[in-house]
Amino acid sequence: MSAEEASGKLDDDRNDEKKEGDKTDVKVYKLEQVKDHKTCKSLWLVIDNKVYDVTEFLDEHPGGEEVLLDLGGTDATEPFDNVSHSSDAREMMKKYYIGELHDDDKTKWSPST
Ligand code: HEM
Repeated sequence: MSAEEASGKLDDDRNDEKKEGDKTDVKVYKLEQVKDHKTCKSLWLVIDNKVYDVTEFLDEHPGGEEVLLDLGGTDATEPFDNVSHSSDAREMMKKYYIGELHDDDKTKWSPST
């Protein structure tokens, strides 16, 4: 009988733990959804398997809006890296982060095999 009490208590503790560790509110987007956002009204990009909404950034981008519009709705990791953006630029990106790319669509960065 006291064992029952003990196990009940254990369950409660577990529930508390679960609540504390619940950080699953990161949004996940399929590439299909990203593709729907490729105009100046709504412009999303994928960089390093992360999704960015750069609509508000179009006017501010030092590299101009044209390059971003051209890549809207796509995985822009390579073009982004090719420009060798500064650490300032990488810091700026955080402001536009909206979620992760779905596992199914993630690029598997394999070492040159
Ligand atoms: C959220 C995404 C992006 C952010 C926050 C960003 C930010 C910046 C910043 C701050 C600069 C000034 C130089 C520096 O500090 O590196 C820059 C330059 C530039 N960016 Fe981006 N960028 C983004 C995406 C892209 C993408 C996808 C391209 C595609 C090719 C691109 C192309 C360029 C180019 C060509 C320049 C050079 C402009 C010049 O020096 O004349 N950027 N960007």
